[in-house]
Amino acid sequence: AITPVILCGGAGTRLWPASRESMPKQFMPLLGELSTFQETMLRVADGSVFGRAIVVTAADFRFVAAEQLQAIGVEADIVLEPARRDSAAAVAVAAEMAARRDPDSVVLALAADHLVRDAEAFVAACRRAAALARQGFVMTLGIAPDRPATGYGYISPGAPLGEGGARVERFVEKPDAATASRYVAEGYLWNSGNFLFRARDMREELAACAPATLAAASAALDAAVRDLDFIRLDARAFAAAPKISIDYAVMEKTQRAGVVPVDCGWSDVGSWTAVWEVSARDAEGNAVRGRASLVATRDSLVHSDGPIVGLVGVDNAVVVASRDAVLVTTRERAGEVKDLVAALRAAG
Ligand code: GDD
Ligand code: MG
Repeated sequence: AITPVILCGGAGTRLWPASRESMPKQFMPLLGELSTFQETMLRVADGSVFGRAIVVTAADFRFVAAEQLQAIGVEADIVLEPARRDSAAAVAVAAEMAARRDPDSVVLALAADHLVRDAEAFVAACRRAAALARQGFVMTLGIAPDRPATGYGYISPGAPLGEGGARVERFVEKPDAATASRYVAEGYLWNSGNFLFRARDMREELAACAPATLAAASAALDAAVRDLDFIRLDARAFAAAPKISIDYAVMEKTQRAGVVPVDCGWSDVGSWTAVWEVSARDAEGNAVRGRASLVATRDSLVHSDGPIVGLVGVDNAVVVASRDAVLVTTRERAGEVKDLVAALRAAG
């Protein structure tokens, strides 16, 4: 069985004010009733393919994670990070845990904040990638890009590996806009951020590419304590892990990366524009959640956590109201919310 590892300790600021430090994107119900964390867990719940999952998250999110798991009736080991060290450390902890149980076990490290329309296609691609992981490749699922987005990892696929997969010739995390345009024209894929590998292979790659991360993760696990259903990593040991993502730490460096392209209706819903795109919309093109009244308004997104929102005569608007903050922007510029959040943080 494949061991799913759900990485859900990120902060996710581009969906402010709904996504906050205290309640990041992956735990929010963005579209339906369930959060993307819950949908991710259910996507890998088929016992004939997947084993018991490991959830790796920030200690602050332990109750929301546990409650959301209970709500969907899924059990998992929940590993708590005492500090944010980004995804390389989280993957290292999971790989180390899995390797101690069975070094040959295949791990599927999943982002928890993505939308996948076709779960069957996703699982089928995971099975093909797992077959290649069993041959020693560190696999990722690739997505055909539809625009030169700068927030993704880009992969140049090389020699075919079978199972529809290919070697990764080059992996470039978050290139600038001009480079991203060139990559799209040259047939690069996006990295979806979902990785498959044998536990011992990831351990070896971390030892080679990011030894400080592996050492910190391993020591934090050695000194971890059980607290109810939680596994609390040792704070002092974990603090020594460099703050770096798995993409920079391993995927850009490893010589044994492979990619399986997947067409599964994937979106990382990274902005309110993306939320509007994937939402059900009414005849006027509006996506509305919560209490709102719209008059002569088209192609807009309105989300409210409480206040009644009224719009008259505006098109392409994005209005998000939480209890203590309101965002007003346009669909075109909603991606710049991250700058707004940075400015708010700087202002304290
Ligand atoms: N446990 C834990 N701890 N999880 C974390 C941490 C951490 O410190 N930091 C991030 N994560 C989780 C996030 O919650 C998310 O589910 C996943 O790891 C990816 O992190 P992001 O911060 O969302 O990464 P990104 O979107 O900038 O980039 C990644 O995803 C892209 C696709 O959406 C990269 O893998 C890119 O290459 C990729 O294209
Ligand atoms: Mg992301």
